[in-house]
Amino acid sequence: METQVVRVEQVLHMTGGAEETSYANNSLIPKKVMMRVKPILEESLNKVYGTTNVPTCFKVADLGCSSGPNTLLLASNMIHIVNETSRRLKVEPPLFQFFLNDLFGNDFNLIFKSLPQFYDTLKQQDTTCFINATPGTFYGTLFPSNSIHFFHSSFCLHWLSQVPNLLRGEAKIANDDKGNIYATSITPPSYGKQFERDFKLFLLSRYKELVPGGGMLLTFLGKFDTSEYISIPGIFRVVLNDMVSENLIEEAMLEHFNMPLYFAPVEKVREIIEEEGSFSVERLEIIKLSWDGSSLDEEAGSKGFKDDNERAEFITRNKRSILEPLLKAHFGEGILDELFLRLKTRIIQFLPKLEDPILVISLTKIA
Ligand SMILES: C[S@@+](CC[C@H](N)C(=O)[O-])C[C@H]1O[C@@H](n2cnc3c(N)ncnc32)[C@H](O)[C@@H]1O
Repeated sequence: METQVVRVEQVLHMTGGAEETSYANNSLIPKKVMMRVKPILEESLNKVYGTTNVPTCFKVADLGCSSGPNTLLLASNMIHIVNETSRRLKVEPPLFQFFLNDLFGNDFNLIFKSLPQFYDTLKQQDTTCFINATPGTFYGTLFPSNSIHFFHSSFCLHWLSQVPNLLRGEAKIANDDKGNIYATSITPPSYGKQFERDFKLFLLSRYKELVPGGGMLLTFLGKFDTSEYISIPGIFRVVLNDMVSENLIEEAMLEHFNMPLYFAPVEKVREIIEEEGSFSVERLEIIKLSWDGSSLDEEAGSKGFKDDNERAEFITRNKRSILEPLLKAHFGEGILDELFLRLKTRIIQFLPKLEDPILVISLTKIA
């Protein structure tokens, strides 16, 4: 079987609709992160709005908005922050224009259906907001030059634009130590190089699109630098390897499956931003996120779990709503129930170790 370059923009989308298995129904963890990061969002927005910039129409783009309640909640939060700042500065609050961006397969319709209620609520607050959709990849140009005041993106930039072509010997790294969960989480160097290319292109594209004084807030998954770190692709690979040894999946199918995900160490991310040179780093923080989101419970209201089984079920549903379309496109639908049942068992086994760092980065455009 030939290794083909999978262009993520053609295949990636979260599970659409509002059913039990949809992303909309399984996005409590990003919501918790959003609540936790709200003070940083406020700080970030206030660096852009109200200091040098008091535009009549404040233009914001949410990159990788997906579909579900988080999208319009974020828009409401931003509107509230900017309106409060306007009141404090005794200036007329602006009109708002929000551009919702995601890849072409995203279920934008689900968001559109909740717009009447969103607009009604804003009308009661005397606020005018225009919502637009901008489908396409954020690795490249999405908007005219000098047109956007603020970019936001949460839980997206760990997605690569493509699975990199592995160099000689790298496929061996990815497939070695089949039973060893830690070794399976080691990422071949080509992934880091792909991330660097993608992230630089992202920064350059946003630099051109931002107005002078514009800024952005990015949150995405990074990587802990310990030998005990378990990555999402790593745990999937162990489950898939088990299924190959039981002849439930063909070995060749697994050999040609690689997730377009990369979790960058924080120092690497800082280095890329500095080397690229378009933005100054206002803030770069790490928040520890356990896979069940409970590490954020104090901030965002606890979701108590009865036991580890319930906890693992919650995590598995979240991962399924994100990864099912990708897995289905490669392996077909037939194996999915079995795969996620096994994933849940592995998750129970490794529960206390399942933790990722979330990178929270506030940037302003260098003049
Ligand atoms: C886990 S969802 C996050 C959704 C939302 N921001 C939240 O915090 O709940 C990640 C989203 O990023 C989108 N995405 C990934 N790569 C992208 C790209 N290159 N351009 C635009 N969207 C992308 C995916 O389609 C997906 O909807």
